[in-house]
Amino acid sequence: MRSLLLLALSIFTPGSCDLLRDSVHVTSAAARPNNELWCYKCHADVPDDKCADLRHNNSALIHKCNNDRRVCMVKRFSYTTSTENSTTALKMWALERNCTKHCEPGCIVIGERTKLYACTSCCTTSLCNYGSGGISHLLHGTLLLLSLMTLTNIIFS
Ligand SMILES: *[C@@H]1O[C@H](CO)[C@@H](O)[C@H](O)[C@H]1NC(C)=O
Ligand SMILES: *[C@@H]1O[C@H](CO)[C@@H](O)[C@H](O)[C@H]1NC(C)=O
Ligand SMILES: *[C@@H]1O[C@H](CO)[C@@H](O)[C@H](O)[C@H]1NC(C)=O
Repeated sequence: MRSLLLLALSIFTPGSCDLLRDSVHVTSAAARPNNELWCYKCHADVPDDKCADLRHNNSALIHKCNNDRRVCMVKRFSYTTSTENSTTALKMWALERNCTKHCEPGCIVIGERTKLYACTSCCTTSLCNYGSGGISHLLHGTLLLLSLMTLTNIIFS
């Protein structure tokens, strides 16, 4: 099921399609000085993974960015489920930190009773991607919601 969700989200995740313009624009490598950026680079499946919780100063996760990858990012996948009376707290099911070339900050939210959140934050100074990739700027894609209704119904039925 996880891979299905990842597929569904990655289709609509900024950076993998031209649906949204990059708001952090990076000029060509030739016009820029050497890439001196370092970012945290790791993947977590559970909230208490050392990658998700960077408080413990984990130098093993520090990575030198190469070539045109001049933005540090955090991408967080999480979900809530709702009954008619209540909504659960946001639960994380995956988190990724990396160097990247294109980064579109914000969240994409899909689903009805079970809502999936794919939230990205971007920054351009070394080791700035230590945060939890919050969801302060929710971007409700009505079009995405409609087009994914069928898919999520299949996944969660
Ligand atoms: C970071 O990005 C590179 C290039 O896109 C990719 O190959 C790698 O799997 C990513 N690393 C993680 C931990 O997601
Ligand atoms: C991180 O670890 C290094 C080496 O162990 C240490 O010198 C540094 O003070 C630590 N930084 C923080 C913020 O804990
Ligand atoms: C929701 O609230 C209504 C009114 O208080 C109650 O009758 C119903 O059983 C509740 N439903 C659930 C799933 O808890």
